[in-house]
Amino acid sequence: MSDSELSSLPFNERYFQDSSSNYHKIRNSALDNPETFWSNIAKELSWFRDWDEVLDWKLPFAKWFTGGKINASFNCLDRYMGSELKNKIAYIWEGENGDKRTLTYLQLFEQVNHFADALLKLGVKKGDRIAFYMPMVPEFPIAILAATRIGVTFTVVFSGFSASALADRINDSQAKLVITSDGGFRRGKILKLKDIVDEALDKTSSVEKVIVLKRADIEINMTENRDVWWHDSIKNTRDFVEPEQLESDHPLYILYTSGTTGKPKGVLHGTGGYLTYVYATTKWVFDIQNDDIYWCPADIGWVTGHSYFIFGPLLQGATSIMYEGAPDYPNPERLWEMIDKYKVSIFYFTPTGIRALMKHGDELPKKHNLNSLRLLGTVGEPINPAAWKWYYDVIGNKKCPIVDTWWQTETGGIMLSASPHLGLVSLKPGSATFPLPGIDADIVDEQGNSMKFGEKGFLVIKKPWPGMFLTLYNDSERYKQVYWEKFPGYYYPGDYAIRDHDGYFWLLGRADEVLNVAGHRLGTIEIEDAMVEHAAVAEAAVAGKPDEIKGESIVVFAILQKGNNPSTKLRVELRNHVRSVLGPVATPEEIYFVNMLPKTRSGKIMRRVVKAVASGKDIGDVTTLEDGASVDEIKRTIDEFRQSVED
Ligand code: PRX
Repeated sequence: MSDSELSSLPFNERYFQDSSSNYHKIRNSALDNPETFWSNIAKELSWFRDWDEVLDWKLPFAKWFTGGKINASFNCLDRYMGSELKNKIAYIWEGENGDKRTLTYLQLFEQVNHFADALLKLGVKKGDRIAFYMPMVPEFPIAILAATRIGVTFTVVFSGFSASALADRINDSQAKLVITSDGGFRRGKILKLKDIVDEALDKTSSVEKVIVLKRADIEINMTENRDVWWHDSIKNTRDFVEPEQLESDHPLYILYTSGTTGKPKGVLHGTGGYLTYVYATTKWVFDIQNDDIYWCPADIGWVTGHSYFIFGPLLQGATSIMYEGAPDYPNPERLWEMIDKYKVSIFYFTPTGIRALMKHGDELPKKHNLNSLRLLGTVGEPINPAAWKWYYDVIGNKKCPIVDTWWQTETGGIMLSASPHLGLVSLKPGSATFPLPGIDADIVDEQGNSMKFGEKGFLVIKKPWPGMFLTLYNDSERYKQVYWEKFPGYYYPGDYAIRDHDGYFWLLGRADEVLNVAGHRLGTIEIEDAMVEHAAVAEAAVAGKPDEIKGESIVVFAILQKGNNPSTKLRVELRNHVRSVLGPVATPEEIYFVNMLPKTRSGKIMRRVVKAVASGKDIGDVTTLEDGASVDEIKRTIDEFRQSVED
């Protein structure tokens, strides 16, 4: 089919022409000469100073566009101020209670400048860290952009996390200032965010100031000389703050994510490389046109909110929807109603969200006109074919391609996905298709040898890419050890994958001790640590169990301290305890009291055994289970463990 024939087709049919050869051509040429490829993309952004070198690669540390000077807020806002784009709507915001606000790029620019000046006046400056604990309101992206304008590194803590999780992150980042609100609305209730911040600040010493946005209009404590209302902080501030000309690898943000130990990892992203990568991938994957209405409902507390709610869409000059509340509040048709109301054309959601809404049937989405949709996306976990089909048939009305995007907090942006912009390949439900241009992905065995098609192995990335994180904050040793030692020279994301006979990649879940609950990463050890913090618990082992909606749910086996007896009351108390330590996403689904835990001779918990018992599966090949123990010993241990669970 010729180009002119193609362009005469309705948009969505155009997507379904298999233009894989074009997509693959671009992918191959990018890999042949990655530095030229990435530098051509970086040139589409505005730099105060050009770079001297595209990539300074000292394995495993990459510096992109060294010598270049750039600013994130300048690229997201100032670039548009000389054109009509400044009057385009950047955000259409809807509160949970139906409140509505819109902000043009110009209005966003104005508010960002005032708030940047407010931050300066409160004494924060380039190189400092600040922390966010905020609901999904427009002031959240405003404040983030303001921080980037003056070169302050920010860290967002999801507002569902507990005071102790917030305190740990503030302590690790040594944040000088916290931005929060009195409260936030969630499912009709008010989350008292400021109270939680106060509790966290009792366990920290680095914070000098707290800026509090009035959102819920509730009674809160304001500590003298420390706490400042947002509306007071912006009084008498300047209309324009010169954006800092930052080195390309200036730290843009730290985002904490779970790993295989109890201590969360501070993933540190730079500026020039990250922005280039997020800019490119937003274009390739979402193909946002001038009249599109784009909606990624991810909370800014997750990396998806950073890359594809804030930076990516703003770098494309897009109009985005922002929603404050829960997707099923006041009822499970809220999202469909909003897609209809705002004529959303591109929608980027999660498999868990899709499954949760799917269980309410087809009638709810069918009550609304979803015809404005032209492209759908998913992120965070593998999508099962049934959910894919429902999303495709019922939400997309069989005309919207679905981009299944695989990536991580560490990768900064989407790594594997189909690309409507470059030419859409035929889609297979459940496959993220292929690596994007410039991404050298492979699947290898334990020794690092490439697997044949059809064989399960470990996903690796063999070349640096501009979106990759700089390191783990304050812990470059852990960075090296977790990501670069298993397969020397390759980045190891910790996921299993398989390639089918057409070369498509299928992601098969985590290969390490990390759970993926509703698209959120949680370390088993983090949950175990939270359990043993409770006085009644002596030891705990945690495993994931397949869950129809959330992908995985949390199962805990706990040994009680002497003097405590198993009871339903204690079970409820422990659930609430974990919830209050780690936040609602970490709430255990099931808690079993046991007399012993299966362990190796060296005292390590036999994770495969715990996992198999949690999901009611066969243990599999016990001979390859763990170090040192004989088959009989392991079998005996398993039997005892099972027995002890039944008791
Ligand atoms: O296991 C993969 C899964 O989510 C992990 C990354 O989690 P996080 O850093 O919290 O980022 C989530 C949002 C980017 C990965 O190691 N994952 C993410 N996307 C997919 C996925 N698994 C399968 N398919 C996906 N599309």
